[in-house]
Amino acid sequence: YKLAQEMPGITVVGVDLHIGSQLTDLEPFEEAFVRLAGLIKTLREDGHNISQIDLGGGLGVRYSNEQPPTISSYAALVDKVFGTLGCQLIFEPGRALVADAGILLSRVIEVKESTPHRFVVIDAAMNDLLRPALYEAWHRIDPVREAPAEAAREIVDIVGPVCESGDILGRARPMSFLASGDLVAIRTVGAYGAAMSSNYNTRPPAAEVMVFGNQTAAVRPRIGLDDLIGQDELPQWLLKSTSVRDGHSAR
Ligand SMILES: Cc1ncc(COP(=O)(O)O)c(C=O)c1O
Repeated sequence: YKLAQEMPGITVVGVDLHIGSQLTDLEPFEEAFVRLAGLIKTLREDGHNISQIDLGGGLGVRYSNEQPPTISSYAALVDKVFGTLGCQLIFEPGRALVADAGILLSRVIEVKESTPHRFVVIDAAMNDLLRPALYEAWHRIDPVREAPAEAAREIVDIVGPVCESGDILGRARPMSFLASGDLVAIRTVGAYGAAMSSNYNTRPPAAEVMVFGNQTAAVRPRIGLDDLIGQDELPQWLLKSTSVRDGHSAR
Protein backbone atom coordinates (compact mmCIF):
# COMPACT_ATOMS: atom_id res chain seq x y z
CA TYR A 1 0.00 0.00 0.00
CA LYS A 2 2.82 2.36 0.85
CA LEU A 3 4.44 1.71 -2.52
CA ALA A 4 1.12 2.03 -4.37
CA GLN A 5 0.33 5.34 -2.69
CA GLU A 6 3.64 6.77 -3.83
CA MET A 7 3.05 5.77 -7.45
CA PRO A 8 1.71 8.39 -9.88
CA GLY A 9 -1.70 7.54 -11.29
CA ILE A 10 -2.60 5.13 -8.49
CA THR A 11 -5.21 5.99 -5.89
CA VAL A 12 -5.58 3.49 -3.08
CA VAL A 13 -9.26 3.01 -2.33
CA GLY A 14 -9.75 -0.31 -0.62
CA VAL A 15 -9.09 -3.91 0.19
CA ASP A 16 -10.21 -7.06 -1.60
CA LEU A 17 -10.55 -10.59 -0.35
CA HIS A 18 -11.67 -13.97 -1.70
CA ILE A 19 -10.94 -17.00 0.45
CA GLY A 20 -12.44 -19.88 -1.50
CA SER A 21 -15.59 -21.35 -2.94
CA GLN A 22 -18.46 -23.61 -1.83
CA LEU A 23 -17.97 -22.68 1.83
CA THR A 24 -20.74 -24.18 3.90
CA ASP A 25 -19.75 -22.67 7.20
CA LEU A 26 -19.50 -19.05 8.35
CA GLU A 27 -16.44 -19.69 10.49
CA PRO A 28 -13.75 -19.23 7.79
CA PHE A 29 -15.51 -16.07 6.61
CA GLU A 30 -15.54 -14.69 10.13
CA GLU A 31 -11.86 -15.48 10.66
CA ALA A 32 -10.92 -13.78 7.37
CA PHE A 33 -13.24 -10.79 7.90
CA VAL A 34 -11.85 -10.08 11.36
CA ARG A 35 -8.31 -10.16 9.98
CA LEU A 36 -9.36 -7.88 7.12
CA ALA A 37 -10.93 -5.42 9.56
CA GLY A 38 -7.62 -5.42 11.46
CA LEU A 39 -5.74 -4.69 8.23
CA ILE A 40 -8.10 -1.82 7.42
CA LYS A 41 -7.47 -0.34 10.85
CA THR A 42 -3.70 -0.58 10.35
CA LEU A 43 -3.92 0.89 6.84
CA ARG A 44 -6.00 3.79 8.07
CA GLU A 45 -3.56 4.44 10.90
CA ASP A 46 -0.86 4.57 8.23
CA GLY A 47 -2.82 7.28 6.42
CA HIS A 48 -4.47 5.25 3.64
CA ASN A 49 -7.98 6.27 2.76
CA ILE A 50 -9.81 2.92 2.74
CA SER A 51 -13.35 3.52 1.51
CA GLN A 52 -14.16 0.24 -0.26
CA ILE A 53 -14.15 -3.38 0.87
CA ASP A 54 -14.59 -6.14 -1.70
CA LEU A 55 -15.53 -9.34 0.10
CA GLY A 56 -15.32 -11.72 -2.87
CA GLY A 57 -17.64 -14.68 -3.20
CA GLY A 58 -17.57 -18.17 -1.78
CA LEU A 59 -20.95 -18.73 -0.17
CA GLY A 60 -21.84 -22.38 -0.78
CA VAL A 61 -24.99 -24.01 -2.10
CA ARG A 62 -26.79 -27.25 -1.43
CA TYR A 63 -25.78 -29.94 -3.95
CA SER A 64 -26.85 -32.83 -1.73
CA ASN A 65 -27.26 -32.44 2.02
CA GLU A 66 -24.91 -29.55 2.76
CA GLN A 67 -26.36 -26.85 5.00
CA PRO A 68 -24.82 -23.61 3.68
CA PRO A 69 -25.32 -20.44 5.71
CA THR A 70 -28.28 -18.32 4.71
CA ILE A 71 -27.65 -15.03 2.90
CA SER A 72 -29.09 -13.20 5.90
CA SER A 73 -26.73 -14.88 8.38
CA TYR A 74 -23.83 -14.01 6.05
CA ALA A 75 -25.10 -10.43 5.85
CA ALA A 76 -25.40 -10.26 9.64
CA LEU A 77 -21.77 -11.34 9.97
CA VAL A 78 -20.66 -8.74 7.42
CA ASP A 79 -22.60 -6.10 9.31
CA LYS A 80 -21.12 -7.20 12.65
CA VAL A 81 -17.52 -6.97 11.42
CA PHE A 82 -17.67 -4.09 8.92
CA GLY A 83 -20.87 -2.25 9.78
CA THR A 84 -19.21 0.65 11.58
CA LEU A 85 -16.27 1.20 9.21
CA GLY A 86 -18.20 3.50 6.86
CA CYS A 87 -17.00 1.70 3.74
CA GLN A 88 -18.77 0.83 0.51
CA LEU A 89 -19.13 -2.97 0.42
CA ILE A 90 -18.68 -4.95 -2.79
CA PHE A 91 -19.63 -8.62 -3.16
CA GLU A 92 -18.77 -11.16 -5.84
CA PRO A 93 -21.11 -14.07 -5.22
CA GLY A 94 -21.22 -16.53 -8.09
CA ARG A 95 -22.45 -19.96 -7.14
CA ALA A 96 -24.84 -18.79 -4.41
CA LEU A 97 -26.61 -16.53 -6.90
CA VAL A 98 -26.93 -18.78 -9.92
CA ALA A 99 -26.20 -22.45 -9.14
CA ASP A 100 -29.83 -23.30 -8.47
CA ALA A 101 -30.95 -21.39 -11.55
CA GLY A 102 -29.55 -23.99 -13.95
CA ILE A 103 -30.30 -27.57 -14.86
CA LEU A 104 -28.60 -29.62 -17.54
CA LEU A 105 -31.23 -31.47 -19.50
CA SER A 106 -29.98 -34.62 -21.19
CA ARG A 107 -31.40 -37.58 -23.06
CA VAL A 108 -30.54 -41.22 -22.46
CA ILE A 109 -28.76 -42.61 -25.52
CA GLU A 110 -28.52 -46.21 -24.39
CA VAL A 111 -28.32 -48.45 -21.37
CA LYS A 112 -25.31 -50.78 -21.38
CA GLU A 113 -24.60 -53.86 -19.30
CA SER A 114 -21.53 -53.39 -17.14
CA THR A 115 -20.22 -54.33 -13.71
CA PRO A 116 -20.70 -53.48 -10.95
CA HIS A 117 -23.50 -51.24 -12.35
CA ARG A 118 -25.21 -50.84 -15.67
CA PHE A 119 -24.20 -47.71 -17.59
CA VAL A 120 -26.90 -45.23 -18.46
CA VAL A 121 -25.25 -43.34 -21.33
CA ILE A 122 -26.64 -39.84 -21.76
CA ASP A 123 -25.98 -37.23 -24.41
CA ALA A 124 -24.43 -34.75 -21.95
CA ALA A 125 -20.80 -35.33 -21.11
CA MET A 126 -17.81 -34.11 -19.15
CA ASN A 127 -17.33 -31.32 -21.70
CA ASP A 128 -20.78 -29.94 -20.74
CA LEU A 129 -20.36 -30.37 -16.99
CA LEU A 130 -16.76 -30.85 -15.91
CA ARG A 131 -17.15 -30.77 -12.14
CA PRO A 132 -17.77 -34.51 -11.56
CA ALA A 133 -14.78 -35.53 -13.72
CA LEU A 134 -12.56 -32.74 -12.43
CA TYR A 135 -13.09 -33.10 -8.70
CA GLU A 136 -15.67 -35.82 -8.18
CA ALA A 137 -18.34 -33.23 -7.52
CA TRP A 138 -21.80 -34.64 -6.83
CA HIS A 139 -24.81 -33.31 -8.71
CA ARG A 140 -28.32 -34.59 -8.15
CA ILE A 141 -29.72 -36.31 -11.26
CA ASP A 142 -33.47 -36.81 -11.60
CA PRO A 143 -35.52 -38.47 -14.29
CA VAL A 144 -37.70 -35.77 -15.85
CA ARG A 145 -40.69 -38.11 -15.80
CA GLU A 146 -40.92 -39.09 -12.14
CA ALA A 147 -41.43 -42.80 -11.55
CA PRO A 148 -44.11 -43.78 -9.02
CA ALA A 149 -42.72 -44.01 -5.48
CA GLU A 150 -43.17 -47.79 -5.45
CA ALA A 151 -41.30 -48.28 -8.78
CA ALA A 152 -38.25 -50.54 -8.61
CA ARG A 153 -34.90 -48.79 -8.52
CA GLU A 154 -31.49 -50.03 -9.56
CA ILE A 155 -28.04 -48.65 -8.95
CA VAL A 156 -26.55 -47.30 -12.17
CA ASP A 157 -23.60 -45.22 -13.31
CA ILE A 158 -24.75 -42.26 -15.39
CA VAL A 159 -22.07 -41.56 -17.96
CA GLY A 160 -21.44 -39.44 -21.02
CA PRO A 161 -20.55 -40.66 -24.51
CA VAL A 162 -17.05 -39.17 -24.60
CA CYS A 163 -14.18 -41.65 -24.95
CA GLU A 164 -12.77 -41.04 -21.46
CA SER A 165 -12.96 -43.30 -18.42
CA GLY A 166 -13.63 -40.16 -16.36
CA ASP A 167 -16.74 -39.23 -18.34
CA ILE A 168 -19.06 -39.99 -15.43
CA LEU A 169 -21.82 -37.58 -14.42
CA GLY A 170 -23.23 -39.63 -11.54
CA ARG A 171 -21.70 -42.72 -9.99
CA ALA A 172 -23.73 -45.45 -8.26
CA ARG A 173 -27.09 -43.70 -8.37
CA PRO A 174 -30.30 -45.42 -7.34
CA MET A 175 -32.59 -44.62 -10.28
CA SER A 176 -35.93 -45.83 -11.46
CA PHE A 177 -35.64 -47.76 -14.73
CA LEU A 178 -34.33 -45.53 -17.55
CA ALA A 179 -34.50 -46.37 -21.24
CA SER A 180 -33.10 -44.69 -24.33
CA GLY A 181 -34.99 -41.54 -25.16
CA ASP A 182 -35.79 -40.70 -21.51
CA LEU A 183 -34.80 -37.27 -20.25
CA VAL A 184 -32.82 -36.63 -17.08
CA ALA A 185 -32.17 -33.34 -15.32
CA ILE A 186 -28.77 -32.73 -13.74
CA ARG A 187 -29.35 -30.20 -10.99
CA THR A 188 -27.57 -27.14 -9.62
CA VAL A 189 -25.45 -26.48 -12.70
CA GLY A 190 -26.16 -22.75 -12.99
CA ALA A 191 -22.65 -22.11 -11.69
CA TYR A 192 -19.51 -23.76 -13.00
CA GLY A 193 -21.53 -25.63 -15.65
CA ALA A 194 -21.62 -23.89 -19.03
CA ALA A 195 -18.86 -21.53 -17.89
CA MET A 196 -16.44 -24.45 -17.50
CA SER A 197 -17.62 -26.30 -20.59
CA SER A 198 -15.44 -27.02 -23.61
CA ASN A 199 -15.66 -28.35 -27.13
CA TYR A 200 -13.66 -31.45 -26.30
CA ASN A 201 -14.31 -34.29 -28.78
CA THR A 202 -15.65 -31.68 -31.22
CA ARG A 203 -18.84 -31.41 -29.20
CA PRO A 204 -20.74 -28.18 -29.84
CA PRO A 205 -21.75 -26.29 -26.68
CA ALA A 206 -25.08 -27.18 -25.12
CA ALA A 207 -27.84 -24.79 -26.12
CA GLU A 208 -29.08 -22.63 -23.25
CA VAL A 209 -32.75 -21.89 -22.73
CA MET A 210 -34.00 -19.29 -20.27
CA VAL A 211 -37.28 -20.17 -18.59
CA PHE A 212 -39.39 -17.62 -16.75
CA GLY A 213 -42.86 -18.80 -15.73
CA ASN A 214 -44.32 -20.12 -18.95
CA GLN A 215 -41.98 -18.09 -21.15
CA THR A 216 -38.89 -19.59 -22.76
CA ALA A 217 -36.12 -18.19 -24.93
CA ALA A 218 -33.04 -19.74 -26.51
CA VAL A 219 -30.45 -17.42 -24.96
CA ARG A 220 -27.58 -19.43 -26.41
CA PRO A 221 -28.95 -21.14 -29.51
CA ARG A 222 -27.64 -24.52 -30.53
CA ILE A 223 -24.78 -24.42 -33.01
CA GLY A 224 -23.98 -27.28 -35.34
CA LEU A 225 -20.77 -29.10 -36.14
CA ASP A 226 -20.20 -26.99 -39.25
CA ASP A 227 -20.41 -23.78 -37.20
CA LEU A 228 -18.01 -25.19 -34.64
CA ILE A 229 -15.46 -26.39 -37.18
CA GLY A 230 -16.04 -23.23 -39.23
CA GLN A 231 -14.53 -21.19 -36.36
CA ASP A 232 -11.11 -22.51 -37.35
CA GLU A 233 -9.00 -20.64 -39.86
CA LEU A 234 -6.20 -22.18 -41.86
CA PRO A 235 -3.09 -19.98 -41.92
CA GLN A 236 -2.37 -18.39 -45.30
CA TRP A 237 1.14 -19.80 -45.35
CA LEU A 238 -0.22 -23.33 -44.99
CA LEU A 239 -2.81 -22.73 -47.66
CA LYS A 240 -0.14 -21.41 -50.02
CA SER A 241 1.96 -24.51 -49.57
CA THR A 242 -0.91 -26.98 -49.94
CA SER A 243 -3.77 -25.38 -51.87
CA VAL A 244 -2.38 -25.77 -55.37
CA ARG A 245 -1.13 -29.25 -54.70
CA ASP A 246 -4.27 -30.58 -52.96
CA GLY A 247 -6.98 -28.42 -54.48
CA HIS A 248 -8.02 -26.82 -51.13
CA SER A 249 -9.44 -23.32 -51.14
CA ALA A 250 -9.01 -20.57 -48.53
CA ARG A 251 -12.05 -19.72 -46.41
C1 LIG B 1 -11.98 -13.58 -7.00
C2 LIG B 1 -13.23 -14.40 -7.05
N1 LIG B 1 -14.41 -13.80 -6.77
C3 LIG B 1 -15.58 -14.48 -6.80
C4 LIG B 1 -15.60 -15.83 -7.13
C5 LIG B 1 -16.94 -16.52 -7.13
O1 LIG B 1 -16.95 -17.53 -6.17
P1 LIG B 1 -18.31 -18.27 -5.76
O2 LIG B 1 -18.91 -18.81 -7.01
O3 LIG B 1 -17.83 -19.36 -4.85
O4 LIG B 1 -19.18 -17.27 -5.06
C6 LIG B 1 -14.40 -16.50 -7.44
C7 LIG B 1 -14.39 -17.93 -7.77
O5 LIG B 1 -13.57 -18.69 -7.31
C8 LIG B 1 -13.18 -15.76 -7.39
O6 LIG B 1 -12.00 -16.35 -7.66
